[in-house]
Amino acid sequence: MIEYRNLRIALLGAGSVGSQVARLLLEQGDELASRVGAGLELIGIAVRDVDAPRDTDIPRHLFTTDAHALIRSADIVIELMGGIEPARELILLAINSGADVVTGNKALLATHGPELFDAAEQVGAQLYYEAAAGGAIPIIRPLRDSLAGDRVRRVMGIVNGTTNFILDRMDVEGDTFENALAIATALGYAEADPTADVEGYDAAQKAAILASLAFHTAVPVEAVHREGITSVTAAQVESAQKAGYVVKLLAICERLTDAQSGVEGVSVRVHPALISRRHPLAAVHDAKNAVFVQAEAAGDLMFYGAGAGGLETASAVLGDLVSAARRHVAGGPGVGESTHANLPVLDIGAVSTRYQITLTVTDKPGVLAQIAGLFSEHGVSVEALQQTVSSADPSRSAGEPLTATLVIVTHEASDAALSATVAAVSQNDAVVAVESVLRVEGDTP
Ligand code: NDP
Ligand code: HSE
Repeated sequence: MIEYRNLRIALLGAGSVGSQVARLLLEQGDELASRVGAGLELIGIAVRDVDAPRDTDIPRHLFTTDAHALIRSADIVIELMGGIEPARELILLAINSGADVVTGNKALLATHGPELFDAAEQVGAQLYYEAAAGGAIPIIRPLRDSLAGDRVRRVMGIVNGTTNFILDRMDVEGDTFENALAIATALGYAEADPTADVEGYDAAQKAAILASLAFHTAVPVEAVHREGITSVTAAQVESAQKAGYVVKLLAICERLTDAQSGVEGVSVRVHPALISRRHPLAAVHDAKNAVFVQAEAAGDLMFYGAGAGGLETASAVLGDLVSAARRHVAGGPGVGESTHANLPVLDIGAVSTRYQITLTVTDKPGVLAQIAGLFSEHGVSVEALQQTVSSADPSRSAGEPLTATLVIVTHEASDAALSATVAAVSQNDAVVAVESVLRVEGDTP
């Protein structure tokens, strides 16, 4: 039997995820070594403050502030510091020192992915990043390897746990956005500054990573259309419920042909949307994540689980570590990023979708016809229309002008035509307010 020397593992970061990775590596090292065929020796952990209190019992002598020296002695470097710098510079150092790299850093991959993948390819190293989208959920490897023989048409996911928790509270408990966010913060789901989550930046980074893999095309995060959930109201959630929908923050990556130009490309967007309560993604509650993949041959696939959490994410990181270690033992060059399709990233206007538009209008003859005319002028067909008149509201005081609430659901049309319709409707004299505009995904309930 061939005896392998221990593989030297350097860990950068011992926060929520890094501390769990270190603990599991120290506690279960023998078991992991049997799966790899070589020992896995944690040679050090780079942190900012070696004396900071830690949740887990990690031997103090492992901590160092000298990340550069640690990296130079490692076979495999696990980067769990987060942020852009010094993570980028340290990963490049690791690659150029001959190490393979495992990272969960979606912010870095979504902004500097091509630079890192190129550097790895040049020296035959490999970058593993299962934890960068969907936390514990195996989704990177299925897209990169299991579906490499198929053509993925669409990836639609709930990839941010904090926003799913907030929207789920609003749906199940009837909370306002502000209350639900306060609970998410108290429970530790939302950061003190929740901007990256509630404004959709975190989901956009994950969407860019998933789309790049799914469509063999480098998708920069700047090309992702992004809308957050801060403007989602309790009234919208309640009205969605009544119509058989639920509001979710969706990351949607599609391969499509722009009807105007005939160009085939990819579209990547993150925004709140209505989905039927019968859709599998509607059953994703709390802070859970799920990714729904539609491939030409495989059909519909659903990946579900914990999208965050130190221990849960450590599972994905250690899975990558085992893969990296096996490659070291087996030898051979790393598998580079597959970007051969190099499709253009299309503007949101090329996407075909449906809208639900809620309007308050003056209640007088001809208004409905005018509104219907604006939809028709823009080539947008109405699927359903519901009208509630204020004269039927017992709380209305005498003398208040008569108004009607119109809830209009459209058939599929280009996003460009739909947004032009909303712009025209909002200019109409009879329209008192455009109360809400939400995209609708999937089937009608
Ligand atoms: P934390 O903020 O909890 O931990 C960061 C760690 O990195 C700390 O130990 C910190 O040191 C160390 N660190 C930060 N900057 C430096 C630096 N300049 N030099 C040396 N050490 C540094 O992060 P998480 O564990 O939450 O996240 C790590 C990565 O995993 C991120 O990229 C994140 O996006 C990703 N991820 C996280 C998930 C989660 O649930 N938390 C889920 C999926 C992915 P010190 O302790 O001394 O301050
Ligand atoms: N803030 C992220 C979320 C953590 O809420 O899903 C995991 O990336």
